[in-house]
Amino acid sequence: MRKPFVAGNWKMHGSKASIKELIAGLNAKVEQVSGVDVTVCPPAIYIDYVSQLLNPSIKVGAQNVAQEPVQGAFTGEHSVEMLKDLGCQYVIIGHSERRAIFGESNALVAVKVKVALQAGVTPILCVGETLQERQSGVMQSIISGQLDAVLDLVGIESFEKIVIAYEPVWAIGTGVTASPEQAQEVHAFIRGKLASLSSEVAQKVIIQYGGSVKPDNAVELFGQADIDGGLIGGASLNADDFMAICKAAGA
Ligand code: 13P
Repeated sequence: MRKPFVAGNWKMHGSKASIKELIAGLNAKVEQVSGVDVTVCPPAIYIDYVSQLLNPSIKVGAQNVAQEPVQGAFTGEHSVEMLKDLGCQYVIIGHSERRAIFGESNALVAVKVKVALQAGVTPILCVGETLQERQSGVMQSIISGQLDAVLDLVGIESFEKIVIAYEPVWAIGTGVTASPEQAQEVHAFIRGKLASLSSEVAQKVIIQYGGSVKPDNAVELFGQADIDGGLIGGASLNADDFMAICKAAGA
């Protein structure tokens, strides 16, 4: 049995004051949640602050990592060792915003996944299609290509230590969520692709769904056979909503 996993991607939101309030809300509710692993991924600059305030049963992750494994002259970047130093156990890699806005290619995403794995930080590898790609019938080949770049570099066995987040780009921040059936179809496709290389790994890999997950659609999404939790954007900035979503994923 796979243990569900819910992660909050705070994106570029927050201040010390708002984060303090959010964490107080999370800490107050964390004991009501069981049977689910929970992580929050603040902006890097606040990771240390969050770690100090957060109930340790909620883990901390980052939203990005440098492709260079060691420190050096890379202005504006943060290395995986720095993330570890601050207590990060996870790092989101290849989010569609990084792919679209910051030009991250499949090849770069794969390198970052490898860097995280080598340091023992779990990558949350994001994949997903745009609306145009879905409508023009290339959804599966787009997602396959995103996975293949990583598979080619790190191999199928490494996927035991990778979390996959399926995030249809058209569902991110739009309020339009994929229907449970649409999401399940892609999750089954991803798991099936991995199963063609190793059924053992495919059975173990956690595949989160992300894209306008809210308390009122979480139960149905998480009830699908191949959906093992979620990567939550907007709703993770509200402690009540995020904890309700975590509850929906848990026991
Ligand atoms: P929303 O939940 O705001 O749609 O964002 C999803 C997301 O991009 C999480 O990484």
